[in-house]
Parts: sequence; C-alpha cells; structure tokens
Amino acid sequence: MSRISVIFGSTTGNTEAAAQQIAAALGGSAVNVNDATADDFAADLVVLGTSTWGVGDMQDDWAAQLSKLQAADLSGRKVALFGEGDQTGFGDSFVSGMGALAEEAEKKGATLVGQWSAEGYTHTASAAQRGDRFVGLALDEMNEADKTAGRIAAWTAQVKAEAGV
Ligand SMILES: Cc1cc2nc3c(=O)[nH]c(=O)nc-3n(C[C@H](O)[C@H](O)[C@H](O)COP(=O)(O)O)c2cc1C
Repeated sequence: MSRISVIFGSTTGNTEAAAQQIAAALGGSAVNVNDATADDFAADLVVLGTSTWGVGDMQDDWAAQLSKLQAADLSGRKVALFGEGDQTGFGDSFVSGMGALAEEAEKKGATLVGQWSAEGYTHTASAAQRGDRFVGLALDEMNEADKTAGRIAAWTAQVKAEAGV
C-alpha cells in the first residue's frame, strides 16, 4: 500500500481542516509542517498545503520550516499541492502562496500532479496559476466554503489517478 503524507501550514485552521479531509479521502495522514519529519517528505505521495498571507506569501510556518522541504529529495517523485485563499479580498494574489511552494518543490525535482482548472474563480491574478490552471487545488473558505467538499472529492480522485496510488 502506498504511503501518503499531507503536510500543511495553517494559521487559523482552514488549511488544517482541508488537510484532514484530503488525508481521509486519499487514505493518508495529515501532519503540521511544524511537526513534519524527513520521513513524511519521503512518502510515496507527498501532498503540500498552505494558505496565503501578507500579499501572496506562503503561510508563516511553511516559511519558517522551508528547510525541511529543501532537504528532501523529490527528484522523479510526484507531489500534489493545495492552497487556501480569499479570491475576493485578495484577488490579485489569490492562493499565491501555493505557487511559491510549488516552485520550491520543483527546485527539488518534484513532478507536480493535481493541477486544477482556474475556471469559475473570480480572482484577477495568482502566482499559483499557469495558463488556465492552478498548480494545485485552490480552496476559498471565505467566499466559497460550500464548494470545498465537492472540490476535495473531485481533486483527490484526480490525484489518485495521476499519481497511481
Ligand atoms: C492579513 C491577511 C492577508 C491575506 N493575504 C492573502 C493573499 O494574499 N491571498 C489570498 O488568497 N488570501 C489571503 N488571505 C486569506 C487567507 O489565506 C485565508 O483566510 C485562509 O483561509 C487562511 O487559512 P489558514 O487558516 O489555514 O491559515 C489573507 C488573510 C489575511 C487575514
């Protein structure tokens, strides 16, 4: 059986709640980046979740613990990302922290899975968007909490298929 770790950073609990739901749907475990070990970054499928703070910054615990990701060897390995943000209040930097985390994972050789259509969101710009897709799942508890469960169900099915877990 594949080992799946969902590593998250969360300030007010939204990304943590999403991480728990994603871990349950994937059959993995959720771990706060503050508590994450090298072993968590060595799972068969690594899922990274961050909210966005400041203007487009990754969540503070991620920024403080980034050396854990930088120490991981992700070459040739599949990594999925998700992010929490606010497309109305921060429409120019919606879930941009997820974009910053994606770049760090790619620097370590990761192959990203779970890219997600940006259609239907109302933001104007995001560092997590490439063409018409986000680098991972974009969630918005502030404005679209009612869509979170459905988005997680669809995305986790997509990730399982793409990662072969
Ligand atoms: C001061 C502040 C700055 C924020 N900056 C952004 C931002 O640049 N982009 C964005 O999409 N969301 C931004 N947000 C929204 C948070 O990412 C959102 O509330 C998220 O759900 C928090 O998740 P967490 O509880 O897991 O940390 C900001 C919120 C606050 C209060």
